[in-house]
Amino acid sequence: MINSPIPYGRQNITQEDIDSVVDALKSDYLTQGPKINEFESKFAQYVGSKYAVAVANGTAALHLCTMALGVTEGDKVITTPITFAATANCVKYCGGDVIFSDIDPKTYLIDIPKIQQLLSKSPKGTFSGIIPVEFAGLATNLEELREIANEYNLWIIEDACHAPGGYFVDSKGNTQNCGNANFADLAIFSFHPVKHIATGEGGMITTNDKKLYNKLLELRTHGITKNPSNFINSINFASAEEGESNYPGWYMEMQILGFNYRFTDFQAALGISQLNRAEAGLIRRKQIAEKYKNAFTNKQFIINQSGVVNGHAYHLYVLEVKDRLGLYNYLKQNNIYCQIHYLPCHLMPYYRNFGWKEGDMPNAELYYKNCISIPMFPGISDDDIERVISEICKFYE
Ligand SMILES: Cc1ncc(COP(=O)(O)O)c(C=O)c1O
Repeated sequence: MINSPIPYGRQNITQEDIDSVVDALKSDYLTQGPKINEFESKFAQYVGSKYAVAVANGTAALHLCTMALGVTEGDKVITTPITFAATANCVKYCGGDVIFSDIDPKTYLIDIPKIQQLLSKSPKGTFSGIIPVEFAGLATNLEELREIANEYNLWIIEDACHAPGGYFVDSKGNTQNCGNANFADLAIFSFHPVKHIATGEGGMITTNDKKLYNKLLELRTHGITKNPSNFINSINFASAEEGESNYPGWYMEMQILGFNYRFTDFQAALGISQLNRAEAGLIRRKQIAEKYKNAFTNKQFIINQSGVVNGHAYHLYVLEVKDRLGLYNYLKQNNIYCQIHYLPCHLMPYYRNFGWKEGDMPNAELYYKNCISIPMFPGISDDDIERVISEICKFYE
């Protein structure tokens, strides 16, 4: 008998999700409707931020953030090499330079002491900002990072695509949710199908800064404002009449260069429905992590693994193993489809063009040689988890 395929990640769509989308499709709105505001405010409440802006995808979210923060030609921005390319690309979209800084080999997150070393070697003002990534779902200690950012006058964009529901505990013992923007200027999420909350394509930016929030709203829709108190052209010009005291009802102005990075109402309906199950999904992800951790602890083929960590949101469960290629191919032959996260970003051919080379980020490069993300999604059955574990062990027998 051929076993059914097990992917490394998969969306979970229920009848409630389908009903919510159908309801939205039957409403008057396809693009900008009431579901978007509802999703934004429920998402903001979920992560604990003041504001949330729904956008077309996580990449658009990153781009709007670098635009809103005014990244421009020559700005140097620090990020991790172990991330999806979009994290770095948003700096390039605005003409800035990406400066990679190596990971901590235990957490796979950007190594904060290494950032400090990098900053201390250059005059203040050399760098503009930092984009930490909560890789695999593990929260960055943003309180520590904020202290450094303050010292060097840097902004922080938290790439929390992997970490809705994740958190760290600050020095006062308070839980700090990923994306609550208490320490970061802006945080971003993706709702791609393998993520915790899936809307097809989709993304969210969260912030506590009203000015940035208003800027993001404008940039999301072509740089157009409909707020009369911000209009630049005169009422006479706008109404094409003399002596009018109000702008006409149709009037709007494009004041800055923006994009169409809008989300749609039926996607928001799906997002709201998915958000209702976010906690249940998180609990299941933690259960899966515990099963894996228990199964692989003390196995001679394991170099390191994600393990069980408080506040981890487990978008991915990563093993570092001997003979990773052999394991990957063996599992594939047995219908278990793992993935590698990530090829270090500085070694993507595009970034090699800027002078990055092998040896620049030794921890990230060693990690890449051994890493494999094994199946992790709430809908995986206990039997399939057992199948993953036993096939992995069998490969090394
Ligand atoms: C860490 C990280 N940042 C950014 C993105 C980009 O998100 P999207 O695919 O929604 O554009 C992703 C998604 O794959 C991601 O994993």
